[in-house]
Amino acid sequence: MLISGRGSNMAALLYASQAPDCPYEIVLVASNVPDAPGLVLAAAEGVPVFARAHTGMKRAEFDAVIDAELERRGAEFVALAGYMRLLSDGFVAKWAGRCLNIHPSLLPAHKGLDVHEAVLAAGETVTGCTVHLVTPALDDGPILGQVRVAVLPGDTAETLADRVHYAEHQLYPRVLADLVSAADSTAAWLERVRSLALALPEAE
Ligand code: GAR
Repeated sequence: MLISGRGSNMAALLYASQAPDCPYEIVLVASNVPDAPGLVLAAAEGVPVFARAHTGMKRAEFDAVIDAELERRGAEFVALAGYMRLLSDGFVAKWAGRCLNIHPSLLPAHKGLDVHEAVLAAGETVTGCTVHLVTPALDDGPILGQVRVAVLPGDTAETLADRVHYAEHQLYPRVLADLVSAADSTAAWLERVRSLALALPEAE
């Protein structure tokens, strides 16, 4: 998992992973911000952490460092949880279909930063959050799940952010679990077909 800040989505994914029936485990929390508060919590919970400032490094060079750490820990999926840095095309291509992001809007509306301010400025009455697969474009890619959140009269960017965060914490663990389960059952099915095929007599 990659984070840059507070790590509340990381915490939601981490604590959900402790349920006995959760199909995923967190093998690494890595950050491009060495003092990201989320790293402290991850370490306290016994999760391996890795931190390296990206400053002074080329994007692809930095991503190769992160990729090596993910491989070293045996990661099979990469969950971006408030990772506020664009990924290089090479990293995105390598993890295609296995890299997810969460964004605090109902994508495709309001990509990028200052989302809640934009929602309020537009006078919208509904916002939400989205989990999607990562593609090279920012906050783009196939949508895996969304939750709608009401905008209340008197909301500020902060009160709205809090409510959207709450929805994010419900959505992300569920979507990640579904994706991992689907991949596991596909892998199991392929394995079964392969073993059946091996047992079949040679074709004439
Ligand atoms: C979350 O709201 C997440 O959706 C957003 O950063 C916040 C991180 O909070 N991500 C993006 O805007 C990505 N474009 P957290 O560190 O408490 O999980």
